[in-house]
Amino acid sequence: MIKMKRICHLIFRLLFLLDGGVWSLRNLSISVPRAVLSGEGQAAVLRCSYDLEGAALYSIRWYRAETEFYRYVPREMPPTMVFPLPGASVDLAQSDHQQVRIVNLNRRLSGDYQCEVSADAPLFHTDIRSAPLTVVDPPFRAPRLSVTQRNYARGDVIKANCSVDESYPASNITWILDDHKIAETMSWRTSDLDFKERGAFSHLELTILETGHYKVGLTYTSASLNRIYQDHYVYGREETDDLNVVRYTMVPPESGQFSLGCVATIFDIYARQSEAAYIKEDTPHPASVTGEDSSGVVPSFSITLTSICVASVLLHAL
Ligand SMILES: *[C@@H]1O[C@H](CO)[C@@H](O)[C@H](O)[C@H]1NC(C)=O
Ligand SMILES: *[C@@H]1O[C@H](CO)[C@@H](O)[C@H](O)[C@H]1NC(C)=O
Ligand SMILES: *[C@@H]1O[C@H](CO)[C@@H](O)[C@H](O)[C@H]1NC(C)=O
Repeated sequence: MIKMKRICHLIFRLLFLLDGGVWSLRNLSISVPRAVLSGEGQAAVLRCSYDLEGAALYSIRWYRAETEFYRYVPREMPPTMVFPLPGASVDLAQSDHQQVRIVNLNRRLSGDYQCEVSADAPLFHTDIRSAPLTVVDPPFRAPRLSVTQRNYARGDVIKANCSVDESYPASNITWILDDHKIAETMSWRTSDLDFKERGAFSHLELTILETGHYKVGLTYTSASLNRIYQDHYVYGREETDDLNVVRYTMVPPESGQFSLGCVATIFDIYARQSEAAYIKEDTPHPASVTGEDSSGVVPSFSITLTSICVASVLLHAL
């Protein structure tokens, strides 16, 4: 059926060329939302605009992945014909020669949608446009963040995981440090068209520079940390590659404290943030200065700590 139609289409195109290029259908364009939520009460309005240059409209047809689900032929009574679209229905009251409104979609209706317009006799000039629509089943809960440590010393590498419940399509994950986006991971490719729900996961390794480093290497102004945050990395994540790690290096914030969070997003219709983790710098032990903590255990602990530090500095130097 479709093949036949395509052949006719070609013949008409040929006729059209022989006719000397008198256009009777111009500027066909399709407008489809990139994504909509699934479920009851949700709707997608697909539009098709065209210029027939005075010629009459013969038909407008809508397809989802090559299967026709809506036809409008003004010469027929009634002009509208609807074909079953498993997993959704067409809202006839709000569908016409320019748009079709689909309600209660399920995610299996994700895919390419086409609009085909034909001008009336004699040329029946026909054109078609296509655009993708993704029907989204969002994750159930907010993303969950886990962090190896809530206190840091300069030079530490803080590790954090962000995991997001299954959704269709899988969420992208953005890492947020003090309200700045620092990295983004992509969890889904348009080739994943099996309609399976998938979780998303991102692993971050955050290195906090030692003071000495930024004095040498970085131009850093205490008024604003934006400088270093401007780096913006996008990583593709392979399905099987769980070792994919986002690495980010920061200068220690002046305040000695920062917050870390992650956001799960699906196109522009879903975004949800994890709870923030507040991470503080270990304060140098006040014992020797204030005499407050003189329990006797602390000094030897400090000495141990100091020797570890010295040892690691020496190791660094090697
Ligand atoms: C239609 O397309 C022509 C070029 O083919 C353009 O000049 C014109 O502005 C378009 N009209 C509309 C309404 O988009
Ligand atoms: C992050 O996930 C990995 C792999 O599941 C696990 O080995 C590691 O302990 C987790 N780290 C944190 C900070 O939760
Ligand atoms: C994930 O991010 C990429 C890159 O910004 C984008 O092209 C893609 O549409 C996003 N996917 C989802 C599900 O939001």
